[in-house]
Amino acid sequence: MADKAKSVSEFLEVFRCPYCKNSFRAVDLKSLKCPNNHTFDFAKQGYVNMMIRPSISHYNKALFEARQKMIMESHLYSLLHKEISNLIKEHLGESSSPSLILDAGCGEGSHLQKIIEEARNSSITGIGLDISKEGILMAAKKYKNLIWLVGDVANAPFVDQSFQIILNILSPSNYTEFKRLLAPNGLVMKVVPRSSYLKELREALLNDTEKKVYQNDDIVYLFKKHFQLKDVISLRYTKKLEQTELEHFVQMSPLSWTSNQADIEAFILKGFSEVTIDLDILIGLNKKNEEKSEVINNGKSMS
Ligand SMILES: C[S@@+](CC[C@H](N)C(=O)[O-])C[C@H]1O[C@@H](n2cnc3c(N)ncnc32)[C@H](O)[C@@H]1O
Ligand SMILES: [Zn+2]
Repeated sequence: MADKAKSVSEFLEVFRCPYCKNSFRAVDLKSLKCPNNHTFDFAKQGYVNMMIRPSISHYNKALFEARQKMIMESHLYSLLHKEISNLIKEHLGESSSPSLILDAGCGEGSHLQKIIEEARNSSITGIGLDISKEGILMAAKKYKNLIWLVGDVANAPFVDQSFQIILNILSPSNYTEFKRLLAPNGLVMKVVPRSSYLKELREALLNDTEKKVYQNDDIVYLFKKHFQLKDVISLRYTKKLEQTELEHFVQMSPLSWTSNQADIEAFILKGFSEVTIDLDILIGLNKKNEEKSEVINNGKSMS
């Protein structure tokens, strides 16, 4: 814990109090304290909880564990990680000056861990922020080289222009905050589902009226209103999963929350299945004109 407090202390100037927006000082490698005495302690696993209201996340431990297995053991998102880390390398170039990458809505942290690993640049520091304490607890236990915070994307506890890159993978956004947080020439990379994302799961678990074709046009439209759209990279591939992997595959999606247990079992009992990943990476540069925005969700059932 002291180690982690030390590493957060190295970046102390990046954090700000979510209540009064003042900067922090580190107290005894145990907590962060602002001039108004708002105090945030390091948990023993090394993360800091910076929520100022009770966090309501529907994502539970079982879902995060399943996501972790699909990401780290089944490598379901490896091509996504490779693509994003290449984009990061391209953007940061050979620069050896310190760069900060925020994963906003990082869940249990595996995407950020993988992406930073692949980027192979020791001057990058990754910070993961999520409203779910369960998710951040798992991340902090497992990925000790990164910084983990429980917090809200709508009230992110960082000073302006702190990040060279903001990642936002299948998670809600707050574009006003993202624009505030991005360094000049900083990039936001938002990953959103396309129409065939997890289509096998939707075909198995949704009824006919629910099986409407999913399109991300509204998300792209809104993104373009806030950022200068530099590129959209579409990634589509399939992967064969075995029966044990199928169990995690079902559990990693909020679709399983509302689905019929018999349909879930039938899907898993098929033994193996080919599943489809179909995603867009929206890449945006900060635009100058400010507009007010709220937390924007991207269709929970597709996550
Ligand atoms: C579908 S999960 C994606 C998690 C992770 N990016 C992944 O792909 O595994 C959506 C995440 O957004 C988080 N979330 C929802 N609202 C949030 C908010 N206002 N601030 C921060 N995180 C939020 C949830 O707790 C959840 O971890
Ligand atoms: Zn304060």
